[in-house]
Amino acid sequence: EMQLAKEKPLAGLSAVVTAGPTYEPIDPVRFIGNHSSGLMGITIANALHAAGAQTTLVLGPTHLTANVGVETIKVTTAQQMFDAVAGVFPSTQIAVMAAAVADYRPATVAHQKIKKQVDELEFSLVKNPDILLHCGMNKSSNQWVVGFALETNDEAAHAMDKLRRKNADMIVMNSMQDKGAGFGSANNKVTIFEPEAGPLSLPLMTKQDLAKEIVSLIAKRIHEKA
Ligand code: CTP
Ligand code: CA
Repeated sequence: EMQLAKEKPLAGLSAVVTAGPTYEPIDPVRFIGNHSSGLMGITIANALHAAGAQTTLVLGPTHLTANVGVETIKVTTAQQMFDAVAGVFPSTQIAVMAAAVADYRPATVAHQKIKKQVDELEFSLVKNPDILLHCGMNKSSNQWVVGFALETNDEAAHAMDKLRRKNADMIVMNSMQDKGAGFGSANNKVTIFEPEAGPLSLPLMTKQDLAKEIVSLIAKRIHEKA
């Protein structure tokens, strides 16, 4: 039994993970998107499942897929991602928001393809719901909410601010400073921020090793509290 506890530290728990970009439609053939591949979030979902958690992955548009055993809900827009997460969040103990959610969407979606006419085309954008904020604000004492942050300046201050504002238990901050890390890369260099522990700077490592580190830290915090 000790061995099982070591190999499957999250047995009996449920998790929800977001990953990938969101696409926000402009008209029937165009959208606003970003370059996220979803690899980091998918790798975390795989690691949570391997640690014994019943895992749901809410995945934006990408060709990558999770391992067998991870229940995947495919979505396109931020609103769809929000709806899917809001639906499963109440029955999970762990929520990891790794998606690169579009902050804004076009205020209206044209029903027909927009024709090339004017020299300057203006768009009105409206804010999308914040999925991490929703989880942070609605969590109970047995729920763990983890977010990511990508900052280019005043990294630590912005990450701590995000941790507090979104009432998260952990913010994994990607360092843009390092070449060979981040978007499209197999590697990441991160610092982990928590409300009651000093920042933890991890060395450059593969996304797979990083996913294991994050999942171990989540398991450690859950068991410390239990
Ligand atoms: N996030 C989310 N829903 C959104 C926007 C962001 O769940 N609508 C989550 C991301 O998945 C990530 C965290 O919030 O875990 C931080 O995302 P980031 O873009 O760094 O922060 P924002 O709050 O959007 O602030 P800004 O882009 O202005 O830095
Ligand atoms: Ca953002």
